Amino acid sequence: MMEATEQRRDTTTLAHRKVWPVVVATAGAIAALGLFLALGFAFTGLYDVGASTRHWPITEWYLNLVRTSSIRAHAAKIEAPPAYNGEANIRRAVGHYTEHCAICHGAPGVERNEVAAGMYPQPPDLTEVSRRYSPSEVFWIIRNGIKMSAMPSMADDGDDMLWATVGLLEKLSGMSAEAFNDLWMASQAQGGHGHMMNMGNPAPDMAAPAGASPSNQAPPSSRSPQEGGHRH
Ligand code: HEC
Repeated sequence: MMEATEQRRDTTTLAHRKVWPVVVATAGAIAALGLFLALGFAFTGLYDVGASTRHWPITEWYLNLVRTSSIRAHAAKIEAPPAYNGEANIRRAVGHYTEHCAICHGAPGVERNEVAAGMYPQPPDLTEVSRRYSPSEVFWIIRNGIKMSAMPSMADDGDDMLWATVGLLEKLSGMSAEAFNDLWMASQAQGGHGHMMNMGNPAPDMAAPAGASPSNQAPPSSRSPQEGGHRH
């Protein structure tokens, strides 16, 4: 009886010893084949990198997963400074946003530039962005940009301005075009960043709230890239 059990244990161990090398070799072969096929696919040029065709749903899902996980992990240790979304900061950020972001993302009452329509991935509307990400995540995105997309790193603008911009984005949710325009006017009255100088000579990255027209200036919209100043 004892002997029979011993014998069975011996054969089981032996079977295990024989199976493992086979499993490892098969896994290795599959991995090598996968790598070979992936490289072969890349060399054939069959993949369409054109921005004019969409990803397959599964590729889109995967890329989205990579993007959101990366943003979450990288922003995890970032702490928001106190009062980054205070009123003074919001006012400071509105000119910065109008000049550097609205061209691609638009704002309440501000059309994005027509070049943004051809981008893939598309620059999303940011009025509800603070519902999708934490303040630290939004800060990380703005500071670092997003690879393989048109979203640039804005690190050169300085962390203070970027935190102020995070504060502004929080306030954009549900904001009317008039309220955004008032905010923009208030920031200009304070000599804010991003003013519409260069009358009649628009810089390519300028956008302004549609109705923003202080009585002593020509309406910024007439100097915006969408209207009046469009030159090819
Ligand atoms: C040249 C165009 C361009 C400019 C300028 C630009 N962005 Fe973006 N932005 C993009 C694109 C394109 C994406 C989408 C990237 C993606 O999906 O991977 C994006 C994504 C984002 C996101 C993530 C949105 C989401 O829902 O996932 C935030 C936040 C953002 N931008 C903020 C800003 C801010 C703030 C500025 C100005 C300081 C700015 N962007 C300037 C093109 C731009």
